[in-house]
Amino acid sequence: MRRKWVGGNWKMHGSRAMASALAGAIVEARNGHCDVAIFPPFPYLREACAACAGSQVMVGGQDLSEHETGAFTGEVSAAMLRDVGCGAVLAGHSERRQYHHETDAQVAAKVAQALEHDLAPVLCVGESLDEREAGQTAAVVARQLGAVVAHCGIAAFGRIVVAYEPVWAIGTGRTASPAQAQEVHALLRSQLARDDARIAGSTRIVYGGSVKPGNAAELFAQADIDGGLIGGAALQATDFLSICSAAG
Ligand code: 13P
Repeated sequence: MRRKWVGGNWKMHGSRAMASALAGAIVEARNGHCDVAIFPPFPYLREACAACAGSQVMVGGQDLSEHETGAFTGEVSAAMLRDVGCGAVLAGHSERRQYHHETDAQVAAKVAQALEHDLAPVLCVGESLDEREAGQTAAVVARQLGAVVAHCGIAAFGRIVVAYEPVWAIGTGRTASPAQAQEVHALLRSQLARDDARIAGSTRIVYGGSVKPGNAAELFAQADIDGGLIGGAALQATDFLSICSAAG
């Protein structure tokens, strides 16, 4: 039985005060059985880590450099995230792939950096609307997942959380139906199973894209949906906590 996982990706929202208050409210109210992580913007990681210290709520970065250290202005390394108290990090979010042209190879290198520094990587994959309409969903997510399997090895998926986030469902209010999401989650799991069935059976594959308190339970009830990566609804403690409760 896989333990459910729920993450809150705050994207570029908030303030120091909001980060402390929101992280504090989550820590105070959280008493369930799923794993919970929050991903505030870099400048607020310290506030979030302080609020979550000693709790079960993990804090993570929204991105990391694929490089260890050096002349990479504006970048943040895995070691730095670890240094300020992070335990996780997102890699390959569609907004990074789309607006910052991150390639599958870069995303794989980022996942490797995270693993090397003991950060739990959350590998984001997902197709665009054009790709879905062209019938390329399976090929796109297989390519994105395959790049990381090839670079990091199947054993790494004992520590990686995979987030399936169809780009057309992110921030649009247009959620993938539970059946649509389940279909892709099952494909991802069977791809991992071709390399190692035991690891595939234990890898958490979570869904992201317009998850709300009203649709979370139905999504999380699918056989291969092990929780969610939440954007908009992660900015309100009551909504986020209600989604966490739907996961256990
Ligand atoms: P929304 O929940 O706002 O659709 O965002 C999903 C997401 O991108 C989480 O990483």
